[in-house]
Amino acid sequence: IHEKACRLVLFGGNGDLSYRKLLPALFNLERKELLAADLRIIGCSRAQLSDETFRAEAMEGLCENATADPKELPEVAERFLQRLSFVTLDANKEDDYQQLKQVIGDPAEKGCVIYYLATPPGLFVPICQQLQAAKMVNQQSRLVIEKPIGYNLKSSIDINDKVASIFEENNIYRIDHYMGKSAVQNLLALRFANLMFEPLWNHNYIDHVQITVSESVGVGNRKSFYDNVGALRDMVQNHLLQLVALIAMEPPTHLTPEALKHEKIKVFRSLRAIEGKRTRYNTVRGQYSAGEVDGKKVPAYNHEGENPEASNTESFVAIKADIDNWRWSGVPFYLRTGKRLKSRYAEIDIQFKNIHHSIFKLPTQANRLIIRLQPKDSIKLVIMNQEPSLSGALNLVSDPLNLSFYDQYEPADIPKGYERLLYDSIIGDSTLFMSRFEVEEAWKWTDTILAGWDEFDVPVEFYPAGSMGPDAAEQLLAKDGRKWFNNQ
Ligand code: BG6
Repeated sequence: IHEKACRLVLFGGNGDLSYRKLLPALFNLERKELLAADLRIIGCSRAQLSDETFRAEAMEGLCENATADPKELPEVAERFLQRLSFVTLDANKEDDYQQLKQVIGDPAEKGCVIYYLATPPGLFVPICQQLQAAKMVNQQSRLVIEKPIGYNLKSSIDINDKVASIFEENNIYRIDHYMGKSAVQNLLALRFANLMFEPLWNHNYIDHVQITVSESVGVGNRKSFYDNVGALRDMVQNHLLQLVALIAMEPPTHLTPEALKHEKIKVFRSLRAIEGKRTRYNTVRGQYSAGEVDGKKVPAYNHEGENPEASNTESFVAIKADIDNWRWSGVPFYLRTGKRLKSRYAEIDIQFKNIHHSIFKLPTQANRLIIRLQPKDSIKLVIMNQEPSLSGALNLVSDPLNLSFYDQYEPADIPKGYERLLYDSIIGDSTLFMSRFEVEEAWKWTDTILAGWDEFDVPVEFYPAGSMGPDAAEQLLAKDGRKWFNNQ
């Protein structure tokens, strides 16, 4: 049994992530009465903010991003805002930590404090070292770090090693907010709480898998940050590979953090390396040019931000991945993700093989399981069906069996990714977080792609904002006689 945290310190507390995702998620937990009375939330960064200004800015963030309107819940909003305070802190300045320590109070040395680093990975180690030097870390202190952990395998090992010398591994929560999404957790229930899918879940019956995470937003003001990252590091190394792992893994022995992580790592180890020239055939890098999204004209990637500098960073990536193991041999996993695409949606398509023999003199379409992760989570199983007809003419159509989470459950009760994960970190449940070995195995795979891109000067292919990516992404599947499903 883990102790509940009584202090949550948000480094990068007035940043975009905090206002858009973290504080709204915490507010939802407040609304559901899941926050203990003594939990205090302390934002910190270099900004000179008073508690009042921080609360006011947080409130603005809640109004824009929380599931429920805080203005309609004044008592809940007030209770929540009273938990917040702000400390101005330069992550590299020793003295500033003394002030933070004072604000945390007694728990800084004895209680369970969560340090949530919503900062670039370059600050992870300096912050941990300062916390240790200030005697603010004990056996119960928890550390939450955001992806990407590092910039490549080497830097992630370096971060993991240094952080491990300060926090115990079971107190390090490496967050991937995709693991907090209800529809993502439901992949476990779908596969392992039903009898009917698992016997078919292998190369005998599955033709291929597609995973699409399509975003309509651009990089906007984050361009200078994003220029050093790109879609492969920002999305594939973590979110998309976590989805691959949940789809491809063997049944874990138990639903424990260790068992789950063990199975995910095995998937990462089975990913065939995409090296050297193969990067040209198996991957596509893309970057958006100017275009129109949701009826609005938007600039090209290179004209985003205040100080735009031309860069060849990829804002889109498509990959054909192979998993070299008994279950998945010969079943490609096609992954794609990009910004400024036509619409925002994330989906996993499991394309089954067609029937072996048909008694109909009509074509049949193979079954497909469509798992919609967002928006509006749903699961559709596309089956062949006979269209009712008076004339008796046989007409086969492919129709979905449809489970919409939004119709089945109260939408406000479906937790957002960060809500679930913040709650888990407060109660000390690390099941949905990543172990260092998962992160490192995932880096190994993406590092070889990055090296291939470098070595062979793989260019970015341009795509107009508002499209579904460059033509080369279509070609990637066309070479195998397949097409992307575009079920916006
Ligand atoms: C983040 C990436 O991890 O995920 C962002 O850094 C991206 O670039 C975001 O926009 C997407 O998350 P979601 O939950 O909106 O799909």
